[in-house]
Amino acid sequence: MTCEGRLAGRRALVTGGVSGIGRATVERLIAEGAVVLATDRHAADHPAVVDLTARLGNMVAYLPLDVTSEEAWASALGWVEANWGALHILVNNAGVGTTGPLATFSLADWNMVMAVNTTGVFLGTRTFTELMTRSGADVAGGASIVNISSIYGIVGAMESGAYNASKGAVRLFTKSAAIEFGQTRRPVRVNSVHPGFIRTPMLETGADNFAAEGRVAKADDFVAILEAQTAIGRLGLPAEIAAGVAFLASADASFMTGSELVIDGGTTAM
Ligand SMILES: NC(=O)c1ccc[n+]([C@@H]2O[C@H](COP(=O)([O-])OP(=O)(O)OC[C@H]3O[C@@H](n4cnc5c(N)ncnc54)[C@H](O)[C@@H]3O)[C@@H](O)[C@H]2O)c1
Repeated sequence: MTCEGRLAGRRALVTGGVSGIGRATVERLIAEGAVVLATDRHAADHPAVVDLTARLGNMVAYLPLDVTSEEAWASALGWVEANWGALHILVNNAGVGTTGPLATFSLADWNMVMAVNTTGVFLGTRTFTELMTRSGADVAGGASIVNISSIYGIVGAMESGAYNASKGAVRLFTKSAAIEFGQTRRPVRVNSVHPGFIRTPMLETGADNFAAEGRVAKADDFVAILEAQTAIGRLGLPAEIAAGVAFLASADASFMTGSELVIDGGTTAM
């Protein structure tokens, strides 16, 4: 169920927007009336980009944006200023997951995970702070930044040091930005979302890797382990995370900032 029109007229930017949770978020924000700039690391002629823009028509635009690049963020700001002059919603969703035992985990992999999952969130927030401050004054509930962390930004997981560190950093960065913006009276709320196990290409790649390493007989066995760690006994859907993002983006969440929205089917309750 969508709340049609709840985001009417708002301008939104979503990173990592052509796959999984990001793609579902783009679709949900549009369903609620927003116009969306979907961004991702891919060139505009990538099949996933072509498919997304063909299906969503003139409610979506696409811009290549590697979230680790300061220059790319500056270009995105330039695009938004030139085409919209405002930004009301920023969803810092792009992310990568890499696992491995600490004793052999490479510095290159550590830096890569931190650059995408943590530095990308900082750069996006910093880049759009001034424009969202101006834009937020014009919409009920103010502008909204939603940072996609993870349940693994709250609890630890086996052989996930870099991912845990990167997502835990997002959780507290979110609170810091929320306090700063609130106390300096910028009309920009900042919240984090903490998905549990969601059926996306990231999770499916992880399942395939576990099977390839012989840790489980087949990828479905890995999925079954995750389902067993979920109180309601199934994986989540990207749309179930997107629903939470849309809520935080809207005036329905006007008194929420610095909060963490856990959407995990009860995993962290167990
Ligand atoms: N799937 C899950 O179970 C799960 C659970 C908790 C949190 N998350 C988080 O949700 C977010 C979305 O993940 P997903 O499961 O949809 O994965 P996904 O792999 O389907 O999508 C991630 C997207 O991020 C993009 N991306 C990666 N590096 C990038 C970069 N440097 N610049 C721009 N874009 C980049 C990818 O191209 C891809 O489109 C991530 O932050 C992930 O950590 C996922």
